[in-house]
Amino acid sequence: MFEIACVSGDGIGPEIIASAKKVLNAVCKKSGVDLKFVDVTAGGASIDKYGVPLTEEALNTAKNADAVLLGAVGGPKWDNAKERPEKALLTLRKEMGLYCNLRKVTLYPCLTEASPLKAEVAERGIDYIIVRELTGGIYFGEKGYRTGVFGREAYDIERYSEIEIERIVRIAYELAEKRKRKLISVDKANVLETSRLWRKIVHDLNEDYPTVALSDMLVDNTAMQMVLNPSAFDVIVTNNMFGDILSDLGAATVGSIGLMASASLGDSTVGMYEAIHGSAPDIAGQNIANPIATILSSAMMLRYSLDCEEEANIIESAVERILFEGFRTKDIANADTPKEKILSTTEMTDEIIKRIN
Ligand code: IPM
Ligand code: MN
Repeated sequence: MFEIACVSGDGIGPEIIASAKKVLNAVCKKSGVDLKFVDVTAGGASIDKYGVPLTEEALNTAKNADAVLLGAVGGPKWDNAKERPEKALLTLRKEMGLYCNLRKVTLYPCLTEASPLKAEVAERGIDYIIVRELTGGIYFGEKGYRTGVFGREAYDIERYSEIEIERIVRIAYELAEKRKRKLISVDKANVLETSRLWRKIVHDLNEDYPTVALSDMLVDNTAMQMVLNPSAFDVIVTNNMFGDILSDLGAATVGSIGLMASASLGDSTVGMYEAIHGSAPDIAGQNIANPIATILSSAMMLRYSLDCEEEANIIESAVERILFEGFRTKDIANADTPKEKILSTTEMTDEIIKRIN
């Protein structure tokens, strides 16, 4: 039996986690995999209930589970809270040692029209993976705020150690070996010292992966290439902040941030799985959110934490089919394509389940 810690969180979080649970139940019932869901309160919901974004007990439940499935945390309601809801997410990642974040940027051919890119660019295909360092860099460095003689002042320090860089870069090389053997390391080495160390380590490690073609790309140029020439990418490896920013851009190019799943992994099999989008408070409670990113994240969970490759494939195929058949949630609907059928969150979930059964 596998124990899955479920963090619904805030905004649309509860709706999309409910969808993913339903889908997981359907696929696991069919194949006899025994899942037990344990609800964990975190984020704004935890601030409201316990005064802190993540209690010790919630953290322990997550750590002791076989995997964590997370909806989303945050929202304007907690903008002035002493500790922000996002702290829960950062603490879970750090305390669980989940330094590797995988974000696949894939354009389904049937969604070419949902991409904001020029048709001739989108038609060349988009299929790459962003390997984002997740527990270091500026998001976790020393930070401070003070009022001095020149007014308010704040700082956040970007810091990376050799082992933090090496372990994430090795994962990216290993992934590249299994794909098209093309690794692009993204940095800002023309300005940042951390990037210069990053670049040096990536190059040194290339010796251990001689079949992988490595190139460096500055992050500003990468943003441009992701729009102008996305078919050129295979595996991208980058630091925490650049990976955060570039993955939203990548998601937009393949139609919607509502489609992009992610896996956060460490040295054990226990991982955390979540959509890359936020809690979308503006559409919360309306049953219109796209559940696909979280459903695909649950497929990644089956694959990476539970070693259920077949079940993961079943979910992914069902999603592909539903999109191919023209079913859409609002975010990926195209007004010029009358044959599309626009579904609510629960309708989309049920249609996916029908294609699993
Ligand atoms: C993401 C999110 C988080 C991040 C936030 C909510 C802390 O934007 O997973 O991309 O910055 O990592
Ligand atoms: Mn982000």
